[in-house]
Formats: sequence, structure tokens, C-alpha cells
Amino acid sequence: MAPAPERRVAALTGAGISAESGIATFRGSGGLWENHPVEEVATPGGFARDPLLVWRFYDARRRQAASCSPNAGHRALARLEGALGGRFTLATQNVDGLHLLAGSRRVLELHGSLWRVRCTRCGYAGEERTVPLPTLSPRCACGALLRPDIVWFGEALPTEVFEAAAEAAESCDLFLVVGTSGVVEPAASLARLAARSGAKVWEVNPEATPLTPFCDRSVRSGAGAVLDELVDEILAR
Ligand code: OAD
Repeated sequence: MAPAPERRVAALTGAGISAESGIATFRGSGGLWENHPVEEVATPGGFARDPLLVWRFYDARRRQAASCSPNAGHRALARLEGALGGRFTLATQNVDGLHLLAGSRRVLELHGSLWRVRCTRCGYAGEERTVPLPTLSPRCACGALLRPDIVWFGEALPTEVFEAAAEAAESCDLFLVVGTSGVVEPAASLARLAARSGAKVWEVNPEATPLTPFCDRSVRSGAGAVLDELVDEILAR
């Protein structure tokens, strides 16, 4: 059945949607920061102190992500975009690029991407997909250090990307919160914004989160197992 023409859907995803692809979540046991204090590898100060350590860490993350494939959860959201077109907005906190690999076309990458670098001096920013990187630490054509194009702790999210996500949260009828612990701001605020703006909020997460009280429906399951069915349900409404 064709969806109602005015229906708008937005989604916020987190590390949980990539868990079934084999990428460790941040706060689960065996989580990514386990062997690295976060201030060493994911802060501007840590990069200034030891860029090589930070690049080794991100090169390892790039290698891991390159060996993983999108799962049924990513594919279900790509299918939803295919059906709703511009009436669907996907915002992700993930930097692994798996939504794009699954076929999603417009992905608001709130925390940046493992697959982009930017110059610490001249403003150059671009794609870098070579795995592993041929030289650590990589340098820009201008000679300065390149850094991962990732939002580190203490840094602001890219303004336009966050504003587009907030606009989608405010104007949607249904907001999906998938695989996020909902503790990192301002990403988590998008779900509360959607709820305040009158959207139904559905959470897909095996565990309860601080966002659960704002949700109209909590599906306690892995995203890969249920998102396809939920997408069918959304498109049939
Ligand atoms: P977390 O590791 O904090 O949370 C992952 C969530 O996924 C948890 O609530 C799990 O219960 C849930 N989960 C686990 N397996 C799942 C599955 N198969 N299907 C659905 N959900 C599942 O990851 P995020 O919330 O993404 O930021 O973390 C947010 C941010 O914190 C990250 O983007 C990162 C980190 O600091 C930066 O690097 C800037």
C-alpha cells in the first residue's frame, strides 16, 4: 500500500545498528574505548599531544569498518528512504559509513566519518578510503597534518548537518531511535525534540535508555531482526 503522501519519518541511529555487522558499540562490554582512555584518542588535546597514536587508533577502526558489511537493519532504513524519498531523513552518530554502503543516499553524519580527512591548517577536507593508510600520520598537500573528519569530545557538531537533523525531528510524524544509548548530546536531544514537536517516537534497542520515557513504543530487540518488519508496518500505515 502506498504511504500517506504527507507522512514524514526521521531516524536517529547509533552504534547498536552496526553491532550486528561486527562493530563494537562504545558502551557495551568489550566497548571500543576499553584499551584507550577517551581523552587520548578522541579529543583535540589528545591529537595535539600524540597524533601518531590517534592515527593508529583510527587506522585500526578504518580497517575494522572496511572488513564489515551492512546488515538487515541498515538495509531496512535504505528501503524506507527508497519508498519515502525526501520525506525520510536519516541522521546517524556512526562514523563507519555502513548506511551509505547499504544504499541510503542522504545520511546526516552527525559525528563525521572515518572515510574523510581534513587539514589542520589549510581547510582542505576530502575523502580518503585507502586501507590501511600508506603513511601514518598522513599529511595534506600543504604539508600540515591531516586529522580524521570526526567530531571529538569537546568539539561542536557540523552546524548545517545538525540543523538539518533538528528540522527533520521537528517536522516528522514518526521518529525512530535505533541502537543508541541516548547519552551523548546534542544527538540525543533530537529524539526529545521530535517528541515535544508531536511526533510518535519508536525506540529499537534491546535495553532501556534515558530516551525510553519519551518513546511511544519500545521494541526490545536487535535492529537487524526487527527493522524490516517495522518498515513494512510504517509503509502500510
Ligand atoms: P553506545 O555504545 O553508547 O550505545 C549503543 C546502544 O546500542 C546501546 O543502548 C545498546 O543497548 C544498543 N544495542 C546493542 N546491540 C544492538 C542491536 N543489535 N540493535 C539495536 N541496538 C543495539 O553507542 P551510541 O549511542 O552510538 O561519539 O554512542 C553515541 C556516541 O558516543 C558515539 O557516536 C560516539 C560515542 O562517544 C563520538 O565518537 C563523538
